[in-house]
Amino acid sequence: MTRFRFARQAWFWLAGAALIAAHQPATAQGQVTVYCSILEEQCREGAAMFERSTGIKVAMVRKSTGEVYAQVKAEATNPRGDIWWGGPGEPHLQAADEGLLDEYKSPRLPELHEWAQRHAEQSKFRTAGIYLGALGVGYNTELLKKKGLPEPKCWADLLDAKFKDEIQIADPSSSGTAYVFLATTVQRLGEEKGFDYLKALHKNVNQYTKSGIAPVKATALGETTVGIAFIHDMLTQQLQGAPVKTFAPCEGTGYETGSVSIIKGGKNPEAARKFLDFALSPEAQNINAKLKINSIPSNKNAELSPDAPKFSEIKLIDYDTPRWGSPAERSRLLKKFDTDVKALPR
Ligand code: G6P
Repeated sequence: MTRFRFARQAWFWLAGAALIAAHQPATAQGQVTVYCSILEEQCREGAAMFERSTGIKVAMVRKSTGEVYAQVKAEATNPRGDIWWGGPGEPHLQAADEGLLDEYKSPRLPELHEWAQRHAEQSKFRTAGIYLGALGVGYNTELLKKKGLPEPKCWADLLDAKFKDEIQIADPSSSGTAYVFLATTVQRLGEEKGFDYLKALHKNVNQYTKSGIAPVKATALGETTVGIAFIHDMLTQQLQGAPVKTFAPCEGTGYETGSVSIIKGGKNPEAARKFLDFALSPEAQNINAKLKINSIPSNKNAELSPDAPKFSEIKLIDYDTPRWGSPAERSRLLKKFDTDVKALPR
């Protein structure tokens, strides 16, 4: 082969290879371990999307927010996760304050709504806001009617003895949702009266579940008459045709700032930063609208589902996420809930 023919063939070969590469999905570019505290289907969709666009392999575990917090803390000397995606802000803030999370200023921060930027600043950039969700109550309309129970409208209505064994809520130690309920109650009524309320409600609770979504599914399936959870999750069931009605209680309610954080000392810090950028992007946040999940996205360019609850129409309390996410307050409230409420006979 002449030198000229060889060079020409090599050129064709290289050009062909480049053309093929351009039409292939990105090849393996490392890996990232994601502890995911949003819904299983959101986690799966997000992991697949991230793998497709970056070529980084995702190992994903779905766990409730309080459980991930406990795992990150237990693994502090040998972190096995890289990123913690989703779940209310308080456990993220506690982990941030305890030095378990890495500081990172994503270039996507300026694209976020003011509330999410403030959340990042308050955490000294060790977590970032990805969505908002208002806490509320849902009930199974068929069961309510069948049992002849009054339609609840307020938090106080749930203390009626007629609701004995009819209410389900998650355990605040494992579930971020239930912790928002605990902090909302204490903030709404003050600590003493708040715990009186929780003790009275305890008599009507049929089960403290591990995850925040469990009472929502149980309400839709008619396994409990009433569930306390995020309004957007109850709404999803309603929109799918379940006999569920949901409302924001008349006295006012609290809300979550859904968060994403990088775990300090994770084995794949660069991939973790890319995942955090991804979690703040409109593409990742549009998964919600696609799956008809109605929490409010933090990126100004993300789609807002037309069915998303309107915060302007909900009576919200002046919920203080940083305060209830501080290590001292969260640890103290959880311990007090275990000893003063959960341990009581029903
Ligand atoms: C669901 C909700 C989220 C919430 C999460 C908390 O995924 O859609 O808005 O952040 O539950 O889960 P957890 O099990 O910790 O209460």
